[in-house]
Amino acid sequence: MAPIPARNRPVRWLRQAPGLLIVAPLLLGSACVIGEASGPGKDAGQGSADASSQAKDSGSGASDAGRGSADASSQPADSGASDPGQDGGTPPLVSRQGYDGARGKSFDDGWKFYFGDASGAQQPAFSDTSWTSLSVPHDWSPALGFNRSSPGGGGSGFIDGRVGWYRKTFALDSSYSGKRILIEFDGVYMNSQVWINGTSLGTWPYGYTTFQYDLTQYVKTDGSNNVLAVRVDNKQPNSRWYTGSGIYRNVWLTALNPVHIAFNGAFVTTPAVSEASATVSVSTEVENHSTSSQSVKVTTSLYNSGGSLVTSATSSASDVAANGKGTLTLSLTVSNPKLWSVEAPNLYQAKVELQVGGQTVDTYTSPIGLRWLKFDPNTGLSLNDKPVKIWGQCMHHDLGALGSAVNVRAIERQLQILKGMGTNGIRTSHNPPAPELLDLADRMGFLIMDEAFDVWEQGKNPAFDYHIYFNDWAQRDLQAQVRRDRNHPSVIMWSIGNEIAGATVGTATKLRDWVKALDTTRPVTWGANHMKSDQGQRDVAAILDLQGYNYFVGDANVDTGSFQLDSDHKSNGTWKVFGSEMLSNVKSRGIYYTQNQDLHWTGCQGSTQQCTSYDVGWGDGFNTEEMYRINMKRPFFFGQFDWTGFDYGGEPTPYDWPSKSSYFGNVDTAGFPKDIYYFYQSKLTTAPMVHLLPHWNWSAGTTVWVWAYSNCDSVELFLNDKSQGSKSFSSDATRLEWNVPWAPGTLRAEGKRGGIVVATEVVKTAGDPAKVKLSADRTSIQADGRDLLFVTADIQDADGVFVPTATNSVTFTVSGPATIAGVDNGDPTDTTSYTSPTRKAFSGKALVIVRSTGGPGSIVVTATSSGLTTGTATANAL
Ligand code: GAL
Repeated sequence: MAPIPARNRPVRWLRQAPGLLIVAPLLLGSACVIGEASGPGKDAGQGSADASSQAKDSGSGASDAGRGSADASSQPADSGASDPGQDGGTPPLVSRQGYDGARGKSFDDGWKFYFGDASGAQQPAFSDTSWTSLSVPHDWSPALGFNRSSPGGGGSGFIDGRVGWYRKTFALDSSYSGKRILIEFDGVYMNSQVWINGTSLGTWPYGYTTFQYDLTQYVKTDGSNNVLAVRVDNKQPNSRWYTGSGIYRNVWLTALNPVHIAFNGAFVTTPAVSEASATVSVSTEVENHSTSSQSVKVTTSLYNSGGSLVTSATSSASDVAANGKGTLTLSLTVSNPKLWSVEAPNLYQAKVELQVGGQTVDTYTSPIGLRWLKFDPNTGLSLNDKPVKIWGQCMHHDLGALGSAVNVRAIERQLQILKGMGTNGIRTSHNPPAPELLDLADRMGFLIMDEAFDVWEQGKNPAFDYHIYFNDWAQRDLQAQVRRDRNHPSVIMWSIGNEIAGATVGTATKLRDWVKALDTTRPVTWGANHMKSDQGQRDVAAILDLQGYNYFVGDANVDTGSFQLDSDHKSNGTWKVFGSEMLSNVKSRGIYYTQNQDLHWTGCQGSTQQCTSYDVGWGDGFNTEEMYRINMKRPFFFGQFDWTGFDYGGEPTPYDWPSKSSYFGNVDTAGFPKDIYYFYQSKLTTAPMVHLLPHWNWSAGTTVWVWAYSNCDSVELFLNDKSQGSKSFSSDATRLEWNVPWAPGTLRAEGKRGGIVVATEVVKTAGDPAKVKLSADRTSIQADGRDLLFVTADIQDADGVFVPTATNSVTFTVSGPATIAGVDNGDPTDTTSYTSPTRKAFSGKALVIVRSTGGPGSIVVTATSSGLTTGTATANAL
C-alpha cells in the first residue's frame, strides 16, 4: 500500500499541524460586471459582537452507529440524539432566504451542458441540440467515476475536473423592458467565463464566491431568445480536497427598477441588545441608474417569526443623484425581544421597502437574529451573557455521493446529524459556503466560522490553485463573502485563511481591513498551524481579533501538560485562543482492531486500508476523548472545531488509491455516524443514552475490548444476561470499558441514573446475511424535482439482526416520480461510481439517495441482493 504522505505522518505530540438618514452620494460605475457581492434580498441576520469588547451587536442516527441493529428500545427518542436526518426540526427551506421571485427568481432550470471544450459555444447561433438538458446546481464530476490517474490525485478524490460548457436560452417579455436585469451565480467551480448573446460579461476565477453580472444592455426584452453561455475550467490540481465542477450552486435572475437596493445592499446590525430591548439598525444602499436625480425614502419593518409586524420606521426623503448611490440608515427598537441562541434560534425578518414618488419600487427581506456575543481572554465566549463553548466541526462543502451540487435537503440532513451529537459550530473549511448553509444555520442554531481562503500568495497546489489569482482577486472575493454573509446571526467570526504558508503581517492586515471595511461587528481570525515555531504566524496572529490554533503542540500529558496556547494565553493578556482545527483522527465506520489496545498507534492496517473505529489519537496525537478533557480544563479556550464532522471527497490520508475519500469524519460520507459520534453525544446531550462498541461478531477465543459511551451515572454490562460488572463514571472518565471473552449471543448495556435503568443498548451476534432491510428518512418529500429521500439499507440475518461485517452487493431501483441521485456506503476505499445503482455494503450498510422528479405520487425503492430477501421502502412525493 502507498506510504503515508509525509505531511500527514503521525508524529505524536509534535504536530503543529496540522437611525437615520445619511446619503453619501457616489457615482455609479458603468461596468457590466458587478462582481462584488451586494444583492437581492438575501441574508439578513446580523452582526455579532466585536471580538474584544462588550459591544452588543445584533447581530442520528443516534441510535445506530453503524450497527443498524437494533433494539429500538435501546436508544433515547429525544436526545437531540434521535435519528439523524429524520422528520422534524425546521420547516423545509424551499429557497434561499429573501429570494422571493422579485429579487432572485430561480434560474436553475432549462440549461444545456456539454462536457469538454466547445469552440464558439458562446455565440447565440451555436447549435446545442446535442447537449444534455439539465438543471443546475450541477456537478459534472461524480458521473466521471474515479480515475487513478486523475491530475488532482488523491487530494481531489481521484475524480477529474476539466472543462465544461453550459448554455441557457431564455426569452424575456416586455415587462422586463426598462428594468435592470441581473444574473447572480452563487458559485461556479471554477474559472467561469460568462457571455450573454455573444458578449463577454467577465470571468470569475474563485469557485466559492457569489458574483453578479448586469445583463441590462445586452438582453432583448421583446420575447425573442437570449443565450447565456458559461465556460467552466476546473484545471487540476488546484485543491487539497474534492471540489466538484461546474455551476454547482444556484443561479438567480433579478429584474429591478432602475432605482433599487444594491446587491447585498441592506446591512443589518444590532448595536444594543438585552433581554429587555434590542436596537436594530438597517443601512440600505440605494442605486439610481436613471438619468435624473431621485427623491427616495425607505420604510423598514420588522416582523416576528409568526409574521406579525413588530415595528416599522420610514426615513425622510433624500435625493440620490443620477447614476449615483446613497445609504439610508434606520434604527428600530424591539421590546422584550426573543433572543437568538443555539438552543432557541429565534429569527425576525426585516423588510426594506424603497419608495420613489410614493410608489414602492424595490423590496428586500432579510432574516435577523437578536443576540450578543462576548469573547473574553479569560472566560471564553458568552452568547447573550451565557457561557458557551463551541463544540464545532470543520466541514468541506461536498455532499457525499451527490458531489458538490448544492441541495438544501442534503445540507439540512448533514446539520441535523451533527446536531444529534451535540455539535453547535461549523467551520466552513476552507472557503465561503453555499448561502443556503447559512440560512439553515440561522434556523437551526449553529455558530459559524466563515472562512475565506486556504492559500494566499503561496500555493499548496501551485500549478493551478487560487494563489495564482490571490493578488488580483482577494479583495473582491473576500468582500463578496462578507457582504453576502454579514446579516446571518449564525456567522460569528470571519476567518481570512487556513494554515497560510508564507503569511505576512502586511497581507493579513489588508485582508483584516477589507473585512472590517464592511463589518466591524464580528472578530477576524484564521487557523494557524505553526504557532510554536513560526514567528511570522505569531506576528499575524497578534494583529487578529481571535487567535485560532490548528492542533495542539507541546506536552504529552493530557492532565498536567502545558501547550503552546497555554503559554500564549498567559503571556498575551488580550489573546482569545481557540482551536480552529483539532484532532485529525482517522477511523473507518464499523472497523475494529480490537486486539491492539494502544490508543496512540496509527489505528490503521495497510492491508485493508481501513482504520480502527476505536478512538485512537492520530493527527495531533490526542484522541478525541483526551482532547475533550484538555479543552474542558481550560475555561479560556472558547471552543474547538474537529477535523472533520463528515468524511469528504479527497484527502484519503493515510492512504492512496483506491482510497478516495477521507477517514477524518466523525460521520462517514453516507451520513452514518462512527462510534466517536456517540462520545460527543454522551458529553453534549442530555437525554439518557448508552452506546456500545464494537459489534459482537467475533470468533471463539477472542477477548473483546468493549467500550460504552453514556451520559448515565453508571453502566452495567451483560453477556447473555450474565453481568460483566457495573462501572461508574469518575469525574474525568470519558467512557467505560471491559475486556470480555467473546461468546455468541447478546451483549446488553444498561445505563442507570440514581440506580434506575434509563437507557439500554443491545448488540447481538448476527448469523449469515439473509435480507436487505430498507428504511427511509422520511415518509413524504416535496414533489419539486429537488427534494431528496435518504434510504438506508441494512443487511440482516434471518432473525432481523444487523450483520455488521456484511459486504453483500446491493442493487437499488426506484419506481414512481423519483430517480436515483447517488449511492454510497461510507467506505473510503470503494471506487464504485457514486452514480452506479449497485454497490457493496460496507460494515453492513449502504445508502441510496432518491430525488423527486417533479410530479406527485408514491415512490417505491427496492434493494435486491443475490441470495437475500429483497427490501423495499416507500414514501410519497407531495
Ligand atoms: C490540516 C488542514 C486540513 C486537513 C487536515 C488533515 O492541517 O488544515 O485542511 O488537510 O490538516 O489532517
